Amino acid sequence: MDKIVIDGGRRLEGEICIAGAKNAALPAFAATILCPGKFLLTNVPNLKDVDTIIALLKEMGAVINKEGPNAVSVDTERLAHCEVSYDLVRTMRASCLVLGPLLARMGKSRISLPGGCAIGERPINLHLKGFQGMGANITLEEGYVNADAPDGLVGHKIYLDLVTVTGTENLMMAATGAKGTTILENAAREPEVVFLADMLNKMGADVHGAGTDKITINGGKPLKAVEMEIIPDRVETGTFMAAAAITAGQLKLVGCNPAHLEAVTMKLAEIGCKITEGSDWLEITGPARPKPVEIETNPYPSFPTDMQAQVMAVLSVADGTSVITESVFENRYMHVAEMRRMGANILLKGRNAFVHGVGSLSGAQVMATDLRASASLIVAGLAAKGKTHVRRVYHLDRGYERIEEKLRMVGANIERKPDRKRD
Ligand code: UD1
Repeated sequence: MDKIVIDGGRRLEGEICIAGAKNAALPAFAATILCPGKFLLTNVPNLKDVDTIIALLKEMGAVINKEGPNAVSVDTERLAHCEVSYDLVRTMRASCLVLGPLLARMGKSRISLPGGCAIGERPINLHLKGFQGMGANITLEEGYVNADAPDGLVGHKIYLDLVTVTGTENLMMAATGAKGTTILENAAREPEVVFLADMLNKMGADVHGAGTDKITINGGKPLKAVEMEIIPDRVETGTFMAAAAITAGQLKLVGCNPAHLEAVTMKLAEIGCKITEGSDWLEITGPARPKPVEIETNPYPSFPTDMQAQVMAVLSVADGTSVITESVFENRYMHVAEMRRMGANILLKGRNAFVHGVGSLSGAQVMATDLRASASLIVAGLAAKGKTHVRRVYHLDRGYERIEEKLRMVGANIERKPDRKRD
């Protein structure tokens, strides 16, 4: 396994191209299951998670080809298997996104139940409750969820007890194949949900209200394969914004969508960053020293949980004490112990983190525990004095395309090396 080594303390300056969003690409691949035909997805990021969903679709019988550096065709004319094994779900929880489309097209699916993960319990009970509301029989057996609807799904009014992103997406896809109207109340409003609704509508579905907390799907419309461009990754954009903020750097991020990042932009402005933006670019200049702020993560359009760790890295060197409240996941502070090894002064109390800013961080050996935690340790390493070794970078490769190359191009002293030590 590889590690990333950063010799910190360099100011970043230059331009970075933002990749397509992982969290939009995954449901887009899942949506190709809904009807037979040849789809073309463009602006697809080169990531481990994308490889995983491609492997999963191939296992089902889809024919998938690379049509260019970021274009992938998916032919779902013939699908034979409706099952997703434990090995795939274990590598990527979002594998459960195929459950809804499989139920809609084939009337059945079988998928291993995801276990806990590094950032919390993360059950899929709300997905399953929604499918049951649409008439599916759900049984659990040997760690697998069996879902079947031999007479097809029927539209239903579903209230989601918690705002769930993949839950909203899964149910929205299932509902396109249901007879009648489905209403999703308390739906997620994330840009990736809106993107998926746009794709479904382009395919011929009738989905209204995506981007609000009430989504209406008039099911049973004939669907066809389409070409779809994946929207820019707002978390990758935000991560580079944090990198500029912590190094007093100046970065222009192109091919992004600043409209999807308002909560992050406003917090970074409060921290002292200067930000200017156009429709598909933004430029950010970091302050000489960050100012402390209060942050609470919540579903979109609030501050995203996927940016909590990276901004905590910035606040670890702020001029005062910041308070962060993590309200989405119960255990998303795994990076704190590693940041402390770099000299950060962070106190955890339940869902709150009190981040007492220190004058500087120092390089250390640190271990990545999940995707965004890995990114936060890289951000911290960019500003730390000396060398930071971020180990177990397979998490990083799940969600960031060539991050070390992109950072090196703007002046970071960063490289990927084989890690010979045992985990
Ligand atoms: C998605 C994103 C992930 C992001 C998260 C929150 C994808 C592929 N992943 O994950 O990057 O961090 O949204 O913005 O888009 N919950 C339940 N029961 C359920 C479903 C969810 O209790 O059936 C809980 C979860 O444990 C969590 C909260 O609801 O506490 C929100 O989770 P959810 O929005 O579902 O996250 P994901 O869709 O898995």
